[in-house]
Amino acid sequence: MKKNLLIAGLVCLAAAGCQKSADTPTAEMDAFISDLMGRMTLDEKLGQLNLVAGGDITTGDAINSPIGAAVAEGKLGGTFNIKGAQKIYELQRLAVDSTRLGIPLLIGMDVIHGYETVFPIPLGLSCSWDMEAVERSAQIAAKESAAAGINWTFSPMVDISRDPRWGRMSEGAGEDPHLGSEIARAMVRGYQGYLSSPDNILACVKHFALYGAPDAGRDYNTVDMSRNRMYNEYFAPYKAAVDEGAATVMTSFNTVDGIPATANKWLVTDVLRDQWGFDGMVVTDYGSIAEMAPHGVAGLADASAMALNAGTDMDMCSFGFISTLKENLDNGKVSQKTIDEAVRRILECKYKLGLFDNPYKYSDTLREAREIYTPEHRAEARRIAAETFVLLKNEGNVLPLAKKGRVAVVGPMADNALNMPGTWSVAAAPAKYKSVRQGIADALGADGSVLYAKGANFYSDKAMEDGISPNGSTRDPRSDAELLAEARRVAAQADVIVAAVGEAAEMSGESASRTDLTLPANQRALLEAMLATGKPVVMLNFSGRPTVMVWEAANVPAILNVWSPGSEGADAIADVIFGDVNPSGKLSATMPANVGQVPIYYNHLNTGRPEDPANPNFQRYRSNYIDSTNEPLYPFGYGLSYTDFDYSNLRLDSESMNADGTINATVTVKNTGSRPGTEVVQFYIRDLFASVARPVKELKHFERVSLEPGQSADVTFAITPDALKFYNADLDFVAEPGDFVVMAGPDSRRLLEKQFKLL
Ligand code: NOJ
Repeated sequence: MKKNLLIAGLVCLAAAGCQKSADTPTAEMDAFISDLMGRMTLDEKLGQLNLVAGGDITTGDAINSPIGAAVAEGKLGGTFNIKGAQKIYELQRLAVDSTRLGIPLLIGMDVIHGYETVFPIPLGLSCSWDMEAVERSAQIAAKESAAAGINWTFSPMVDISRDPRWGRMSEGAGEDPHLGSEIARAMVRGYQGYLSSPDNILACVKHFALYGAPDAGRDYNTVDMSRNRMYNEYFAPYKAAVDEGAATVMTSFNTVDGIPATANKWLVTDVLRDQWGFDGMVVTDYGSIAEMAPHGVAGLADASAMALNAGTDMDMCSFGFISTLKENLDNGKVSQKTIDEAVRRILECKYKLGLFDNPYKYSDTLREAREIYTPEHRAEARRIAAETFVLLKNEGNVLPLAKKGRVAVVGPMADNALNMPGTWSVAAAPAKYKSVRQGIADALGADGSVLYAKGANFYSDKAMEDGISPNGSTRDPRSDAELLAEARRVAAQADVIVAAVGEAAEMSGESASRTDLTLPANQRALLEAMLATGKPVVMLNFSGRPTVMVWEAANVPAILNVWSPGSEGADAIADVIFGDVNPSGKLSATMPANVGQVPIYYNHLNTGRPEDPANPNFQRYRSNYIDSTNEPLYPFGYGLSYTDFDYSNLRLDSESMNADGTINATVTVKNTGSRPGTEVVQFYIRDLFASVARPVKELKHFERVSLEPGQSADVTFAITPDALKFYNADLDFVAEPGDFVVMAGPDSRRLLEKQFKLL
């Protein structure tokens, strides 16, 4: 099925920019799809609803594979995680030439933070608080994916999480609804741009919904939450992505109100489609229709009917729609109309991508050779990675290091290009990437030298390390003692020590929950040994989640959190530790003082018995702990710079506003240090009394401001009633008259404040 290419091209040119991702279906599209569907058999329709993993054809022969056979028989609407434009071309050709109606395939991939040019993991990206950078990273990811044949990414993941035991915090934007929403929007813009452009692909917002709040931080576990909390705290980023025009949404594995999200009609139809106006396609997560059996809700046939009736369109890997919907139609559990609506939404995605005009739009091997991992993309990834690092501590200005002398680089991440990209780097090419050791050596050039010793594996226990090494182990077979002894010998010859420690890529991500968030004991022993030399020690903490670093914060002079920094991470690290780039990252998730505080988040309710801020010690009958402070180690929004910023004179241009008014809150920020730097200025709001309890503060506005030494800037937040709105007990989105506090500062803890009134 091929539309007239020429006419479509002319229309596209005339429209100057073609069809924007957020565009609603056109009459032309409706007519085209109605005509096509009028000619489809039930089997052909059910085939469109079926999405299957690329499996063995990722590395093998596309045509002569089970997927190839399914495509030729018209039993697939799409497939995913296949690498290579040639293979995808062959599959697309099968779909076009060997099936009766020649409907092209959706080709998905988990391009979560870049294709071959890998950006920092999304949690890292969110710490840049730089929407231009986030959007650019998604744009480049889309461009490279498109060049490799992909037309659909399973990203952005916008699940808010307050629980760093959950490994998938790495894939999201942290704990905050406002920051998370801005990032969701930026990523959708970056991926989708103008969908008819060959450089853009479909985004898929996931995991709808609430996947980031599993009980006990254990992946795939139960979620149970009040509607108040859903609407006020967890829904915002999904809605923002939908508002931005995201074409597809993926349901989550968990239950919502006891019903698996995939079959939850209230969630998928009432909230997503009716309340938010989403008119795109909903795909399940992997096998989640089949998982309704172990959930104890329904076997495959009933689960399939429930999922379809809930508003889900495409079945990822359960084979439920394709194998049971005929029988469900016969026995009246689903209607032809519901099946047709799902088919239509999938065909609309293909239409919007332009696949009916040119099914091979994304299958161009020349383009694949030309547009992937280009110097331009790599430079962007390096620049952006450096913005994501969070300087947690810098006692005695150990950092930046002088670009000379003998630098000992130790730790399991010191010489480990394989683990630089981080989790969900499906198309990474680690053989092309640098390790920290190499990045530092390149930066030093002839002015210095690098000494290397591994010093420690990720875990002392081999079985544990094997469990987190699915992409190949980088384990050193020597004993802990031997590794340490070598590191001591190397450090003895050095002027300064850089310890690259923390998590391997797969210690976070899917199915990587942890109950202990501290550095594994053998890695701590390495730090202790390095500190015992008396030489300056810089800790590079690699992690896919906030970790617990109380001991390190007390003992190591300089700590830079570098997350999983991506393909260009090594150069970016060198840029920051040698001071070519001044760090500006700020935490997008609270760093707890101990795992017992989890879930921990800055925008909590006050409770009726809050901790007395003047008395940090345990007080009975208050909401606190006998054996721990409530305070995190590092709060949301926190991050240092090589220069200092002073905040002063928070002022309002009015102390009250009407329901249609605005108050400008302005704060003066000055660079009082001796280097140019960029500060993320943050504004928070508190509603002092409301019909439902409101958080002690909520981020509402932020700006990145670059200042020369001695320079100051006034930063203004225009407060409108929208910034004061929340969902009340009836789930209406309202701003209630009364007293509010606006706060401004460098993080969620150190804030200036002023009070005002909404009349
Ligand atoms: C399961 C994951 O939860 C989801 O995020 C991913 O997109 C799919 N698998 C496909 O790989």
